[in-house]
Amino acid sequence: MRFVFVMDPMHRILPDKDTTFAFQRAALRRGHASFHCEPRDVYIADGDVWARAREVRVMDEAPYFTLGAPDDVRLADVECVAIRKDPPFDADYLYVTLMLEKLRGRVLVVNDPQGLRDANEKLYTLHFARHMPRTLVTSDRDRIHRFVAELGGGAVVKPLDGAGGSGVMVVLKGDRNTRSIVDYITREGQRHAMVQEYLPAVRDGDKRVLVLAGEILGAINRIAREDDVRSNIHAGGRVEPCEVTPGERAVVSDMAPRLAQDGLVFVGLDFIGGRLTEVNVTSPTGIQELSRHAGRDVAERVIEWIERRSGDFRPMLGSIPPG
Ligand SMILES: Nc1ncnc2c1ncn2[C@@H]1O[C@H](COP(=O)(O)OP(=O)(O)O)[C@@H](O)[C@H]1O
Ligand SMILES: [Mg+2]
Repeated sequence: MRFVFVMDPMHRILPDKDTTFAFQRAALRRGHASFHCEPRDVYIADGDVWARAREVRVMDEAPYFTLGAPDDVRLADVECVAIRKDPPFDADYLYVTLMLEKLRGRVLVVNDPQGLRDANEKLYTLHFARHMPRTLVTSDRDRIHRFVAELGGGAVVKPLDGAGGSGVMVVLKGDRNTRSIVDYITREGQRHAMVQEYLPAVRDGDKRVLVLAGEILGAINRIAREDDVRSNIHAGGRVEPCEVTPGERAVVSDMAPRLAQDGLVFVGLDFIGGRLTEVNVTSPTGIQELSRHAGRDVAERVIEWIERRSGDFRPMLGSIPPG
C-alpha cells in the first residue's frame, strides 16, 4: 500500500516522540510505502487533487529518515491519505481540507477532512458536555467574571485555537491578575475563549486516551511540573503508564457513534479526574509513550486497521474475490 502523509516538514520530526513517525515506521515494517508532503504541496489540476510528494523512508538511527525526489502523486491513486499537520488550524489548513474533499468515496482519508473542519478541538468536546466539567464559551468579560465568582474554586481559561497547553491559565476570584488575563484571552472582549471549572484532580495528571475507530488503544498519564498547571508533554509534563477506568470506557463508548459519523478515526481524548476536557483530532500524539509502556508497537494496530479498511473505498479492488 501507499500512504501519503500530509504533515509538517520531516526535519521537524522528533523520532522518539512523534506519533506520525511511529505510523511511518509501522507502515514500513508492514511492507508499505510512505510519501511525505506539506499542506502547501497539495494542489488541484485537471479537476483532480494531487500532491507534490516525496517517498519517505524512516529508520531508528540518525538521520532517522531519507526523502526521495519529489513526484506528482494523484491522491485518488494511493490507498490512504493521513492528515497529520500540527495546529494551528489556519486558512491554509482549511483550504487543504476542502481540496481533499475530492477524495470522498475514493480513498480512505484519516481523519476525514470534513471531520477535521468541524471538530475544533475545544468546541467539538461540547457535543459531549455531559462528560465535561462546567464550561463557558464567550467573548463577554463580565460573563466570565460572574462565572469565575460562581465557581468559587477557580477556573481555567483556554484560547479556542490553542494546543500543547499554549495560553491555558488559571484564574481565581480576587486574584489581581484575573482581570488582565480575561482581557488578554478575549482580546478585550473581541474574541471567544473557553472558561472551565478548575479540576483539582489535575494534580494526579491529565490522561490521554488514544482511540482508534471507537476502540481504546490505551492511555498515558501526563503529570505537570510542580510549578505549572499544564500537563502537556510540550509544557514539560512527565509521562507515566496508566489504566483506563470503567468510567472513562463508558464515556468513550458513548462518544464512539458520533466520532464514527464524523470520520474521526484516530483521536486523543483528554481526561482529568475522569472528566472529558478535550478531543484532539488534528495530530493527536502519545502512541510512542504508550507503546513503550505496553511493550509492543501500538502504531501497528493503526496501520493494520487502515489495511483492512482502505479496500472499502476502492470498490473495484474490494470486489475481487479473496484467494
Ligand atoms: N478544567 C481543568 N482543570 C485543571 N486543569 C486543566 C483543566 N483543563 C486543562 N487543564 C490543564 O491544562 C492543560 C492543557 O489543557 P487542554 O484543554 O488539554 O488544552 P491543550 O489543547 O493546550 O492541550 C491540561 O493538560 C491540564 O494540565
Ligand atoms: Mg490537551
